[in-house]
Amino acid sequence: MKHPNISAYDGVEQLSSFTEKQFEQYCEKKLADCEKQVSFVRDFININTFKGNVIEVGSGSGKLLYALESNGLIKCGTGYELSNSRVKFSEKLSNYISSKKVTTICGDFLDSNVELESVDLIIGVDIVLQLIAPISDDSETKFF
Ligand SMILES: C[S@@+](CC[C@H](N)C(=O)[O-])C[C@H]1O[C@@H](n2cnc3c(N)ncnc32)[C@H](O)[C@@H]1O
Repeated sequence: MKHPNISAYDGVEQLSSFTEKQFEQYCEKKLADCEKQVSFVRDFININTFKGNVIEVGSGSGKLLYALESNGLIKCGTGYELSNSRVKFSEKLSNYISSKKVTTICGDFLDSNVELESVDLIIGVDIVLQLIAPISDDSETKFF
């Protein structure tokens, strides 16, 4: 049986729950809410070595990756997200803001084969590690 954390976000941000207007208002608010996290990243990175290759684990709507992109902090962004409804939402948000540099992969980050050498920053925010750690004895170690 699959751990409940794997499917905990199924159906979240289901596009059919939003009118076009609601979608736009929701996205504008979500993107604006990322201001603090964008500032944190800007302060955290070494601008002399940072090339803008960014991964977010559990990227949800993709709001943070898109906010980083619109602030010029991403050359190539990849979000990993388990929830199919959230990935679909993220794709619509990508079109809405005409994103060119962010891709969202629907799947488990722990199954990915990330070439760490090519990544400048891996982000996991908002309890994502707390969701991953209980899944199996080695999932936290695998994550790191
Ligand atoms: C609390 S939400 C945070 C979403 C987003 N980062 C935000 O700040 O709005 C955690 C997200 O991580 C996703 N998630 C959890 N474990 C994951 C994994 N192993 N691989 C990819 N996504 C995962 C969940 O589906 C959920 O959408």
